[in-house]
Amino acid sequence: MSMRPYIRAHKHLRTVWSGSPPLPWAYGLRPSLTQSRFAPGKIPPPRPAHVLKPRLQHTAAPANVHESTTKTLLIVYYSMTDGTRQMAQAAYEAAQSAEGVHTRLVKAEDAGPDDVLNASGYIFATPENLAAIAGVFKAFIDRSYYPVLGKANGRPYAAMICAGSDGENALRQLDRVAKGWRLRMITPGIIVCTHAQTPERIYATKKIEPEDLARCAEIGQAMAEGLAIGVF
Ligand SMILES: Cc1cc2nc3c(=O)[nH]c(=O)nc-3n(C[C@H](O)[C@H](O)[C@H](O)COP(=O)(O)O)c2cc1C
Repeated sequence: MSMRPYIRAHKHLRTVWSGSPPLPWAYGLRPSLTQSRFAPGKIPPPRPAHVLKPRLQHTAAPANVHESTTKTLLIVYYSMTDGTRQMAQAAYEAAQSAEGVHTRLVKAEDAGPDDVLNASGYIFATPENLAAIAGVFKAFIDRSYYPVLGKANGRPYAAMICAGSDGENALRQLDRVAKGWRLRMITPGIIVCTHAQTPERIYATKKIEPEDLARCAEIGQAMAEGLAIGVF
């Protein structure tokens, strides 16, 4: 069989596609639409910035929905020698400045999956013990992990570690749990070092320095205000 019929058919198609402009109703569109910037085959020109801006503000409307709903910020902490408690308390007090956000400060011993599920954002605070998150905090994670898995996706969190000299492992571990829960880190976690490296200093009551408490307060405030205005 010769190729001619195919070539002819191809030519015919080309004529159809490149010929006179398509009739609007061939697309099921009103003529006015086919002449607009959205007509088939037309690439819309980039929108100038002054047009884009109000449009983006408009599509951010769901924020209003969040604004009208009370959000809960859950701060879970464990502390043996009071360092982490002071950090969590600083975050808690700073979070009070945000209107429309209810902040809960809960000891890891008392916290469980329901507390996590019923909150909109989280601050997790724990000491680093033996290069890991403290056992009591880990127990809170262990009893909450699977009941929460898949049900808190996208919620914001921040981590705070109190450590005698390091803290990196505990922070990594906490971030890994949050990643499993599909939480969203709002800021890299902070480590407060208490310089406790002898048994005496390790078991002594800690006093967290004002500049470190200020870092914790910043996280509490940022988290609560972010929840209040619905940016997370
Ligand atoms: C058993 C034990 C193990 C510890 N291991 C570490 C460690 O691996 N890395 C570190 O930086 N600090 C370690 N520390 C020090 C604590 O992190 C530090 O004392 C911290 O201030 C405790 O927080 P808290 O005051 O809230 O209890 C350890 C403390 C204890 C009691």
